[in-house]
Amino acid sequence: MANRRKFLIQSALGTMGAAFGAFACGNTPKEKTIASGPSAPTVLSTWNNLAANEAAWAVISQGGRALDAVEQGVRVVEADPEDMSVGYGGRPDRDGNVTLDACIMDEAGNCGSVCFLEHIKHPVSVARLVMEKTPHVILSGDGALRFALENGFRKEDLLTEKARQEWEEWKKVSEYKPVINIESHDTIGMLAIDQQGNICGACTTSGMAYKMRGRVGDSPIIGAGMYVDNEVGGAVATGLGEAVLKMLGSFLIVELMRQGASPQQACEEAIRRITSKQKNAAEIQVGFLALNKKGEMGAYSIHPGFVYALHQNGRNVGREAAAAL
Ligand code: GLY
Repeated sequence: MANRRKFLIQSALGTMGAAFGAFACGNTPKEKTIASGPSAPTVLSTWNNLAANEAAWAVISQGGRALDAVEQGVRVVEADPEDMSVGYGGRPDRDGNVTLDACIMDEAGNCGSVCFLEHIKHPVSVARLVMEKTPHVILSGDGALRFALENGFRKEDLLTEKARQEWEEWKKVSEYKPVINIESHDTIGMLAIDQQGNICGACTTSGMAYKMRGRVGDSPIIGAGMYVDNEVGGAVATGLGEAVLKMLGSFLIVELMRQGASPQQACEEAIRRITSKQKNAAEIQVGFLALNKKGEMGAYSIHPGFVYALHQNGRNVGREAAAAL
C-alpha cells in the first residue's frame, strides 16, 4: 500500500512538471514530465538518433507501415561504423567477436528476434524475416547466421579498426564493468505510429562491450528490450540488459499503461522496480521510453544523461529524460 501511494505521488509530481526544451547541436536541456503529443503519427527512439528518426519518418510521411518505418530507422544506426554499440562498428565481446541482438514487433502482435548473431550488418532485418518466414520467434547464433545467409544476407567482417584497437587496449586491463551512458549510447530502440494509427517497435544492439562470449542482453527478448500492443502502445529499453531482463521492463510498462498509467508514470514505475529491488542500481544505467496510442510519451532513467529523439508534429527533436537518482 505504501509503495502504491508512493507511486501515485511520484506520478502526480511527474505530470505536473514543466514542458520540455528541445536540443540541437549538442544542447540537451532536461525535461521533467511527459511529452504530450495530440496523436499519431510519431517516431520515438532511444539516444540521439535524429537521423534514424528521419529515416523512419520518411516511411510514415508517405503513408507507409510503422513496421517498415522502425526497420528502416534502426538500420541507419546498424550501418553506422561510428556508432560503437550497434551493428557494424560495434564493440566486440572479450574474444574480439562482434555479436548482435535485435528484435521487431508488429501491430498484430507478431514478433521476430535474433541473438548472438555474427557477421550480418542488419540483424533487425533478419529478425523481421524470422517473424515473417518461420514458425519461430527467436533464432540464435549459428542457426540465425545460416538462416540469414540462406535468405540473401551477406557475410561481413563487422569489427572496424577503431573497435579492434579499443578492444586491444581493453585487453591490457580486462576490467569488466558497465559504463553509464557509454558515449550516450548502448542500444537503439524505436517505436513508431503510422498514419493508420498502428504502432510497431524494433530494438538492435551489439550488446555490452567485452561481454562473455554467448552473452545475450535484453534487446532481442520480446517484453524486455521492446514490446508493443496495438491496443495500448509500446515501450523500449536501453542500458544494462541484465537489469531489464530481471523485470521484463517493456512488457511491464505496456501492462501498466493498459491499466491506466500514463507513459511517464509507467516508465517511472519500471525504473522504481529496478532501483528498489536490484542492489547494484546506483552503479548501472537503464532508460525506458513509452508511447501510447494517443501519441503521448514517457521517458525515465536511473541516472541523468539518457537522451532520446522524438519526431512528432513536424519536428524531430532530442531531449534528455528525467532521472531517478
Ligand atoms: N541493452 C543492451 C544490452 O544490454 O545488451
